[in-house]
Formats: sequence, C-alpha cells, structure tokens
Amino acid sequence: MRIVLLGPPGSGKGTQAKLLVKRLGLPHISTGALLRNAARRGTELGLLAKSIIDKGELVPDDIMSDMIEERLGREDVANGFILDGYPRNVAQAESLDIMLERLNQPADEAIHIDIDEEQIIKRIAQRAKEEGRADDTEETVRNRMRVYAEQTAPVADYYAERGLLTRVLGDGTKDEIFQRILSVLNINAHTA
Ligand code: AP5
Ligand code: MG
Repeated sequence: MRIVLLGPPGSGKGTQAKLLVKRLGLPHISTGALLRNAARRGTELGLLAKSIIDKGELVPDDIMSDMIEERLGREDVANGFILDGYPRNVAQAESLDIMLERLNQPADEAIHIDIDEEQIIKRIAQRAKEEGRADDTEETVRNRMRVYAEQTAPVADYYAERGLLTRVLGDGTKDEIFQRILSVLNINAHTA
C-alpha cells in the first residue's frame, strides 16, 4: 500500500503515520523528520534546511526531490510506504508521480486530514511546550499555515483530479481519526 498523507501543520500527519506504521508494517517517510535529522547532524544541507524551516518556508524542490528519490530507492519500500510531508506543492507532486511510475509503484491513496485553524494553534502550542520544535513559534506557525494554504492545498486538488483523494475529519481523538483512516483504506479496525 502506497499512501500519501496530506494536511496542514499540526493536523496529525506524523501521529497518524506512526499508527499506520504499527498496523501495516510499512516505512514512514517524513521529509520534515529527514530534514530535522540532517540539521541535527550539521551537514551543509541540514544547516541550509534549518534556516528555511525556522522561517516556515519550503526547502527548494530540487533538494527535496533528491532526498525523496534516494529514500524511495531503498529496499524497505518494496511493499509500500506512508509519505508524510511530501509532496508539498504541485511541482513536487508531479515529480513524485514520475519517480513512482519509474519504480512501477504508483500512489494508491491520498488522505487529507481536515482541521481548523483554532485546533492547529492549540495543538502546536501544546507541542511547543512538550518538544520545543524550533519552528513551533507563533510567528513561524502563522507562516507555515500561509505557505500551506498557498502552495500545499492545491496538492489535494491534484490528487482529487486523479481520483485518489479522500478527506478525513481531523477533529476528535487520535484513535478516532485513525479509525476513519483505516476505513478509507478498507482495513477492518479490529482484525487487521
Ligand atoms: P513537517 O515536519 O512536515 O511539518 P508540518 O507539515 O508543519 O506538520 P507538523 O509536523 O507540524 O504536524 P503534523 O501534521 O505531523 O501533526 P502531528 O502529528 O505532529 O515540515 C516542517 C518543515 O520542513 C516545513 O515547514 C518545511 O520548511 C520543511 N519541509 C518538510 N517537507 C518539505 C517538502 N516536501 N518540501 C519543502 N520543505 C519541506 O500533531 C501535532 C501535535 O498535535 C502533536 O503534538 C500531536 O501529539 C498532537 N495531536 C495529533 N493528533 C491529535 C488529536 N487527535 N488530538 C489532540 N492532539 C493531537
Ligand atoms: Mg509532522
């Protein structure tokens, strides 16, 4: 199963990806996590990424497509994957399609987690207290939401036009949202 998780910052992409990984045993590919790891290692790419992430802007497409191509080339994606944070604009969606076509592994499902701004702010404020992610400041979160609306929201339309998109309500507990996602994937919540 090859699943693309979409949604604004704080919508629960990472949370739901982890639950799906546990259930389905597929690798979780989070470009945000890959970039934050590179930043921690202090590589040239990591330091560049950090300066962009801290402003809430998008890292350039060519860097991202190299990163995702390398990751999709590894053996563990043979049975599928859960993509979280990529693609983030229409150009990335187009290059992902080309890469997956070449690998003979087209995306099966795109799931968009719908959530309102008030909840985003609440959840990220909570995470800021618990984890202290550098881009979880109020100003950067506002910019991340703006970038999402301008550049990433059209990615949902891109998948909708291809008949791959389902929207899931992101309101409720983590488990409630997980059950909604399982039903989109036609997985029986209690037996799979
Ligand atoms: P990325 O790491 O992808 O961040 P994001 O999209 O802003 O999303 P978040 O990780 O903040 O939220 P999430 O949807 O994963 O929610 P989570 O499960 O954590 O990207 C960071 C940056 O990297 C970007 O701004 C950009 O600069 C760069 N980048 C990444 N990919 C890129 C790309 N492809 N191209 C260019 N640049 C890229 O949940 C949020 C919080 O809420 C958590 O604390 C969680 O515990 C809690 N929570 C979750 N669900 C619930 C619930 N149901 N009820 C209560 N709390 C909940
Ligand atoms: Mg995340």
